[in-house]
Amino acid sequence: MEKVKIGIVGAGVWGETHAAIYQEHPFAEIVAICDKQEERAKILADKYKIPRIYTDYHDLAEDTNCDAVAIVTPDFLHADIAVEMAAHHKNMLIEKPLATNREDIDRIYNAAKENKVRVMVDLHNRWNPPFNTAWQEIRQGTLGEPYSAYIRHNDIKWVATDMLSWAGQSSILWFLGSHSLDTLRWMFHDEVKRVYSVKKRGILEKLGVPTDDLFLTTIEFSKGGVAQMENGWVTPNGNMNINDFKFSMLCTKGMLSIDASNHNMLQMVTEEKTTTPDILVANRVFDKCKGLSYESIRDFVDRLADGREFRVSLDDARNTAIAILAILESAEKRQAVDVVF
Ligand SMILES: NC(=O)c1ccc[n+]([C@@H]2O[C@H](COP(=O)([O-])OP(=O)(O)OC[C@H]3O[C@@H](n4cnc5c(N)ncnc54)[C@H](O)[C@@H]3O)[C@@H](O)[C@H]2O)c1
Repeated sequence: MEKVKIGIVGAGVWGETHAAIYQEHPFAEIVAICDKQEERAKILADKYKIPRIYTDYHDLAEDTNCDAVAIVTPDFLHADIAVEMAAHHKNMLIEKPLATNREDIDRIYNAAKENKVRVMVDLHNRWNPPFNTAWQEIRQGTLGEPYSAYIRHNDIKWVATDMLSWAGQSSILWFLGSHSLDTLRWMFHDEVKRVYSVKKRGILEKLGVPTDDLFLTTIEFSKGGVAQMENGWVTPNGNMNINDFKFSMLCTKGMLSIDASNHNMLQMVTEEKTTTPDILVANRVFDKCKGLSYESIRDFVDRLADGREFRVSLDDARNTAIAILAILESAEKRQAVDVVF
C-alpha cells in the first residue's frame, strides 16, 4: 500500500503526539512540519527526521508532495488553515474542536464539501477502551435503550494555567467539553435538541487566565434522552490524574458506569504526591505509542490509506461544535437554548 504523505501544522504539545504516531505508522510518512515559530518546527523536524520545514501554512498547502495535513494549532485557529488546505485538495485530520464560532464551522464544512476532501476531527474518546466497550454493549441492545446519562470531564488547573498558553482565549467546553459532548451524542446515537447551562468564573481569572472555571449543563436529545454534563478547568493540581473523568448511563433494561480516572492501574508515590498515570490516554509500551490519544490518529491514517469511512464524520464534529456554541449561549443568557443545526 502506498504511504500517505502527511504534513503537520502546529509543532506544539499535541503536534508532537501526531508526529510520534505518524512516524511509527507503516502507511504514513511525515513530509513536512509547519509552525509560525520556526524553532518549534525545527525541534520536531530534528527529532522525527522530517525533511521540510515551513513557517507559513500557505507554503505547506502549495506543497504538491503532501497528501494530507494534520491541523494542530490552538482551538480557535483551525479554520483559515483548514479552508486553505481544502482549496489545495489536502485531506485533513483537524484537532478538536472543529472550530469555535459558527462562521468558521460553516467555512470549514463548506470548503471540505466543495473540494471533496476527507476530514476527520480528533474526537478521540471513541477509542477509549471502557467507553468503546460500553458503546458496543449499548448498540447491541444488551441494556435496552439509552434513557439518561451523566458525564463529568474535568482537568486540573495546571492545564489552563501552565500547559496551554492560550487557555484564556478558549474554554473548557472546547477543550474537554468537545470530547464529552461527542461521547454523549455517540452513546445516545442522537443529536442535541436543547441545552441549559450554568457557569462559574473567578478562580482562573485570579490566576491570570481570563476564562470560565466550569459549566454544569443539562442536555435534551431529540429522541428524548437526557444528560448532565460537567466540565471544569479548576480541579486542584494535587489530584491523582490530570483528567477527572466519570460516566454513567441509565438504559431501559440496565445501566453502566465508567470511572476512567480512579482506575488505579498504576499508582506512583513520591515524597511530594501520589499519581495514577493516565495510561489509558497515552503511554509507550517499549517504543510503541499506545493509548486512545494515539489510536484515533492511527485510525485516521489506516482509513485514509484504505479508503474506509472515518469513525468520526465531519457532521459529527460540526454538530458537536454547534451544540457547544448553544451551551455557551445558554450559560451567558442564563436560559435554555434550542440547538439549530
Ligand atoms: N485530542 C486531544 O485530546 C488534545 C489534547 C491536547 C491538545 N489538543 C488540541 O490540539 C490543538 C493544539 O494544542 P497544543 O496543546 O498542541 O497547543 P500548543 O500551543 O502547544 O501548540 C500550538 C502550535 O501551533 C502554532 N501555530 C499557531 N498558529 C499557527 C499558524 N497560523 N501556523 C502555524 N503554526 C501555528 C503555535 O506556534 C504553536 O507552536 C488544540 O486544538 C488542542 O485543543 C487535543
